[in-house]
Amino acid sequence: MARAPAFSCTACGASHQKWAGRCEACGAWNTIAEDAPLSAGPAAKSLGAARGRTLPLSDLATTEPEPPRAASGLAELDRVLGGGLVPASAILVGGDPGIGKSTLLLQAAASFARNGLKCLYISGEEAGAQIRMRARRLGLAEAPVKLATDTNLRDILTTLDAERPGLAIIDSIQTLWADMVDSAPGSVAQVRAAAHELTAFAKRRGSAVILVGHVTKEGQIAGPRVVEHMVDTVLYFEGERGHQFRILRAVKNRFGPADEIGVFEMTGSGLAEVQNPSALFLSGRGTPAPGAAVFAGIEGTRPVLTEIQALVAPSPLGTPRRTVVGLDAGRLATTLAVLEARCGIPFTGLDVFLNVAGGLRVTEPAADLAVAAALISAREDVALPADCVVFGEISLSGALRPVGQTENRLKEARKLGFSTAIAPADSKPGAPTGLRLRHMPDLAAFVGEMFGAG
Ligand code: TYD
Ligand code: MG
Repeated sequence: MARAPAFSCTACGASHQKWAGRCEACGAWNTIAEDAPLSAGPAAKSLGAARGRTLPLSDLATTEPEPPRAASGLAELDRVLGGGLVPASAILVGGDPGIGKSTLLLQAAASFARNGLKCLYISGEEAGAQIRMRARRLGLAEAPVKLATDTNLRDILTTLDAERPGLAIIDSIQTLWADMVDSAPGSVAQVRAAAHELTAFAKRRGSAVILVGHVTKEGQIAGPRVVEHMVDTVLYFEGERGHQFRILRAVKNRFGPADEIGVFEMTGSGLAEVQNPSALFLSGRGTPAPGAAVFAGIEGTRPVLTEIQALVAPSPLGTPRRTVVGLDAGRLATTLAVLEARCGIPFTGLDVFLNVAGGLRVTEPAADLAVAAALISAREDVALPADCVVFGEISLSGALRPVGQTENRLKEARKLGFSTAIAPADSKPGAPTGLRLRHMPDLAAFVGEMFGAG
């Protein structure tokens, strides 16, 4: 029986049963192409009567010690990796072009190399002279990093097999060209083949491999989501253009917590670590203005304070604007609906702009209460007290639900000079933190207390 041909989207990698003009998964036009059969040999037809060998089975228990992780000494990077670099692991670092991936990884390579790890930096994007110039500018010219500039996957693999580095950095996966795959560099098939071979190399030789991947306008690593499944760890390097802050975020990590972030600042001489991000994100705060609320959040294992800013203004439009930067638009819609239904505060006919100061992206539900506080403060034109932080999840009934790590949030707030925290009624602070904790059972009580309405 003939096998039905399979198709996949060259933009997002989604599989399809049949050809179509538009990919239903990503919405791109003219991107669906037939997959080349894996193998035309007899094996492709049927497994037949020939039996495979029996796999050796083993126990879960092991006496082998965990392989030692290599530390770079860049604390922000090591933490995001889950405590250093794991041997034989493959890591994908994605981000917008120009955000600073090459800079970060050159600095990382130099740091690992200075700590005794053999590092190879292979660039398919820039000329050797360019990279050397950047290294000089970053003060890394003397670091024992080996450099190659090439895009041929076969040559790169041969070099890696001969050199056996502790860490190989490939900048970028989209520039590689595998001669066994019949399509253009950067296409899904090419990127997939390169990622597969390089990941296999990592496992075979015990080297760590870092792959750089560019991100498309839609925010996905160009071409393949499949690469994300192949590697052990996926890190995104994010930041707002015009802002100096850069955030390295673990979105997947087989060897550590996901959602961990490292914060850097782009300076004239490369990326500088930011050890106290809360201070940085709150640094621009002047006298408290209406529409601002300080959220005591948790990013990964670390507390981070940010300012949530809202602007509410009469709308000239039939459908008022809802513009959100750094927060989930769906959660804003929910919070607005709860404010209207449970507290009698409508936003009909009003444009709403919501923003996290400093360019951080906040995904925690615990931000709900701070968002609500900023919204009401903006609408009523009343500033919140300068010395207070806010956190808590809002349920659809208008009740406030406690969130995790209250103690950590309070300690961080105390450290940054805040004296009051507004939190859900059941929040358990644990050890005393020197902060006044004001418990609120529900959103209506919060509104009544803070704004004398509701
Ligand atoms: P780069 O690492 O080349 O970005 P990517 O590899 O993600 O495309 O970084 C490019 C930007 O970083 C460039 O616009 C200049 C800026 N930059 C600095 O501000 N300071 C520096 O020391 C360096 C090396 C780059
Ligand atoms: Mg680059």
